[in-house]
Amino acid sequence: MPETATVLALESSCDDTAAAVVSGVPGDMHILSSVVYGQTDLHAGFGGVVPEIAARAHAEVLDVCVAAALRDADLSLDDVDGIGVTCGPGLIGGVVSGVMTAKGLAAASGLPLYGINHLAGHALTPRLTDGVQFPYLMLLVSGGHCQFLIAHNPVRFERLGGTIDDAPGEAFDKVARLIGLGQPGGPAVEAAARSGDAARFAFPRPLTHKPGCDLSFSGLKTAVLRARDDCVDDLNQLRAQDQADLAASFQAAVADSLAAKTAHALSVYLAQNPHQPVLCVAGGVAANMAIRTVLETVCSAFDTDFLAPPLGLCTDNAAMIAAATIEQMPHRAPDGMGLSARPRMPLDTESAAMLGSGKKGAKA
Ligand code: KG4
Ligand code: ZN
Repeated sequence: MPETATVLALESSCDDTAAAVVSGVPGDMHILSSVVYGQTDLHAGFGGVVPEIAARAHAEVLDVCVAAALRDADLSLDDVDGIGVTCGPGLIGGVVSGVMTAKGLAAASGLPLYGINHLAGHALTPRLTDGVQFPYLMLLVSGGHCQFLIAHNPVRFERLGGTIDDAPGEAFDKVARLIGLGQPGGPAVEAAARSGDAARFAFPRPLTHKPGCDLSFSGLKTAVLRARDDCVDDLNQLRAQDQADLAASFQAAVADSLAAKTAHALSVYLAQNPHQPVLCVAGGVAANMAIRTVLETVCSAFDTDFLAPPLGLCTDNAAMIAAATIEQMPHRAPDGMGLSARPRMPLDTESAAMLGSGKKGAKA
């Protein structure tokens, strides 16, 4: 039986600076504090996250964020058993800021330091929220990633497939820009879609009729661009109803693609693991209610439980990194001061790299 551990963790891989304290044993943990400082306002004028601005902002507030997490938990560093930090994948400047801050804390306190894969944080979130047993099927859908994973244990994830180009969150963000909505695009598109007609534009659902669990979203984005160009008037303006219909039709195409491939992934997973019929979702796009609804429908057709974390634990946070640290502690040694920040860091190191990985190596 592992001993109860209290972990302070830091997350700074994209545009949220986060620190949290989580306590417990694997599969039975509770959040003592979770602080997230977003950077939406800083990037608002640029139509996307600017890596250099993000890195500076992380460096400025990480110490304040850590102090707030400890204060909210009513603890000091002396009460903590270990420090977890996202060491990749992500925007390198932000990841470096988090890793350096965590190293400083570990050096000053003598606490063990654990570098955590950001994707493991998302993929292990259902262990924090629901104490779900291994194995389970995980659909990770975020701004940078989209993959089906079988979580075998806290350090072994088997990828069944994923996007061969854009991640769904990236597609939401790009489509929001195309149709004149703000960032982050996901919540903006979801809000606009509520008053739109999802059947008005017949956008493609790429790869859905092909075997395998891979997905593709880049053609969808191009189709939205063409449809938008057909709608704009002589002054390059888009009517509010067109905007809503484009948002709704796009969201329906993403939801349909995810539903079709989830059905496929579930049949592969259930053939191997018939006694653990569970699908969990995680990542920012899992906050989307229309997507949750279609996934729930697919799960009921497969007699499979569907678990989706509360919205605040779908998007980036440090509680998931602290929980992943507690989960992984019994399986691995801490990292030393040699821990490095990695922009690319696949979670499944055994499967071949996904198509679309760049010159710097496999992203996922
Ligand atoms: O997991 P996350 O916070 O950061 C990454 O690791 O990528 O995910 C952020 C992504 C963004 O692309 C954002 O637009 C998307 O999640 N997102 C949503 C929603 N809320 C956030 N996408 C669709 N619908 C939402 N409600
Ligand atoms: Zn994330």
